[in-house]
Amino acid sequence: TAAMGAALSTCSPSAAASSARTGSLASKVAVLGASGGIGQPPLSLLLKQSPAVSQLSLYDIQGVKGVAADLSHISTRRSGFDGPASLSDCLKGSRVVVIPAGVPRKPGMTRDDLFNTNAGIVADLITAVAKTCPKAMICIVTNPVNSTVPIAAEILKKHNAYDPRRLFGVTTLDIVRSNAFVAEAKGLDVSKVSVPVIGGHSGVTIIPVISQAVPSVSFKAQDRETLTTRIQNAGTEVVNAKAGAGSATLSMAFAAEKFVDSVLQAIDGKRGVIECAFVESTVTEAPYFSTPLLLGRDGVEENLGLGNLIEFEAKLLQAAMPELQQNIAKGVKFVKERY
Ligand code: NAD
Ligand code: LMR
Repeated sequence: TAAMGAALSTCSPSAAASSARTGSLASKVAVLGASGGIGQPPLSLLLKQSPAVSQLSLYDIQGVKGVAADLSHISTRRSGFDGPASLSDCLKGSRVVVIPAGVPRKPGMTRDDLFNTNAGIVADLITAVAKTCPKAMICIVTNPVNSTVPIAAEILKKHNAYDPRRLFGVTTLDIVRSNAFVAEAKGLDVSKVSVPVIGGHSGVTIIPVISQAVPSVSFKAQDRETLTTRIQNAGTEVVNAKAGAGSATLSMAFAAEKFVDSVLQAIDGKRGVIECAFVESTVTEAPYFSTPLLLGRDGVEENLGLGNLIEFEAKLLQAAMPELQQNIAKGVKFVKERY
């Protein structure tokens, strides 16, 4: 079991991003699925403006030429903007690969309902990553994250390219939401609020640890439960509001950019960068689990573990385990049977 009770206070995109930058900041970043709702305007636009990205490379199976032409007219300093690229050119030399490729939910669907379409997409893209840039930090956005991360790990293992420190399921949106909702409920400055979220990224597997929020906040039991349920169902809230037009894209792009920025800062040598992400883990009986992670030059430097959970959160953890374990096993089985 990893270190318990470590400093969780900076498990917040806002906290990590607000600190001073260090290092060379010359990283090529590849976005696979760059024409989609997340990839296109919001994420690629944010990365195009990021001082941490020296070269941005976009890949999609459709429409990427237009996105690239449009972005190339933005007067940011990036000299190495690649425009549309073949998959291998896009990946060549990339230090960070972000994958939002795949279909989103419609009302009435669970994230697991996306498995049949998205599992193969992630497996194929990761095969290319394994062959072209096996040392890259891989940030998987594609749902169901609880399964696509184990799929990616199994594919990388097959190519002798698996390093558990470098493979992340991006759960940052759960932290972004928790920070926003807690700040709103308590009238706090959201840039100073940091709520760790552990577990996985679907329904009951999303475990907000409000008892470890910084600054410390207190809720009546009923209010804590209502807030927790809202965080767990926040993705569905957006899916229903979009009424068939997809799932969260703007908030997701914001979250992904923050996570990628933290990874870039850590690989450039900044110390003390902490983010929650879904990674290979020995913290619980689930082989993959999200907890706060200390990031460094090679990815995960230390897993900071669960910290102290109150009884309500310990019960959430118990309730998450069956679905989480099933989602993980399904991903592993998919690769064992198909690849
Ligand atoms: P979208 O349908 O708008 O875009 C997906 C893009 O992926 C499309 O442009 C499509 O052409 C592209 N694509 C499909 N197959 C591809 C392949 N083999 N190679 C490259 N590109 C390919 O969907 P979206 O709204 O951008 O969502 C993308 C994924 O992100 C979904 O699976 C969604 O559930 C997930 N998501 C995850 C989180 C999270 O918190 N982790 C949040 C929001 C959405
Ligand atoms: C989210 O949390 O918004 C994403 O996982 C998309 C979804 O399907 O809910």
